[in-house]
Amino acid sequence: MRTVSPFPIESQTSPRDKAFLLAAQRLIRDAAPAYDYLEIGSFLGGSLAPFLADPACRSILSIDERGRTLADERGARFDYAGVSTQSMLDRLHQAGLPTEKLITHDGPIDTLAPPDRPFDLAFIDGEHTDQACFRDFLWALPLMKDDSAILFHDSSLVYKAVGLITLLLRKQDRPFALLKNRNSEMSAIFLGGLGQCELGRYFEAGEDCADFYAASEIAMLEHNIRNRVRIGPGAERLVSFTIEPPRAEKGYY
Ligand SMILES: C[S@@+](CC[C@H](N)C(=O)[O-])C[C@H]1O[C@@H](n2cnc3c(N)ncnc32)[C@H](O)[C@@H]1O
Repeated sequence: MRTVSPFPIESQTSPRDKAFLLAAQRLIRDAAPAYDYLEIGSFLGGSLAPFLADPACRSILSIDERGRTLADERGARFDYAGVSTQSMLDRLHQAGLPTEKLITHDGPIDTLAPPDRPFDLAFIDGEHTDQACFRDFLWALPLMKDDSAILFHDSSLVYKAVGLITLLLRKQDRPFALLKNRNSEMSAIFLGGLGQCELGRYFEAGEDCADFYAASEIAMLEHNIRNRVRIGPGAERLVSFTIEPPRAEKGYY
């Protein structure tokens, strides 16, 4: 018997990221027999595929501001021009995926007309800057059900946004749980009752958040040094360097 992959279309996610996405899908399916999915940043449609194929997924809203060269916390810009909503739809059809339940919005989330129903699950994977990720979360949050989950890809790039989001939720007195998947770029905020449910049935134990933030800070420094710092007369690339912990200095005299 031929097994059909839940990801028949190329996705910019690793095998562990994909497994996390599928585990979140199982959790949501158990919590709500018919659920609605929101995705910010769909590119070729790779991460939409398992939701398009799932009969329990009732509706999908895909938000993608197409044709941009994206700013990125790594200190480089990434060109996503050349992939349109139509080319994504063509690819989905070629893979035999039904698209009747899919609505697309070609623009940022802050230009979206209010959708007609709240979402159970959101996946934020658009522009990888803290500011854009925080914006995407701020606009997505009121669209979510009280008991819902918001996933983040490239968490190590937008770790400051993730940290600010947890602060905001704490200040709003909203019950939530944060889970950073080990050895993967996925993290998730489980809102309301979902944060209290037995997440261990679906996910392995998460990474310590302090370790995640600390490792991400070093990784972002390294990326920015490699991408932006040049030395010497011919402005050669910095090949070898170490990053020290922040030095303590006297703050006043
Ligand atoms: C990393 S890709 C998404 C990858 C996709 N989720 C996957 O699994 O293959 C980032 C996408 O974000 C889109 N994008 C850029 N700016 C955006 C914005 N302001 N809001 C939503 N999406 C945006 C890009 O056009 C691109 O398609």
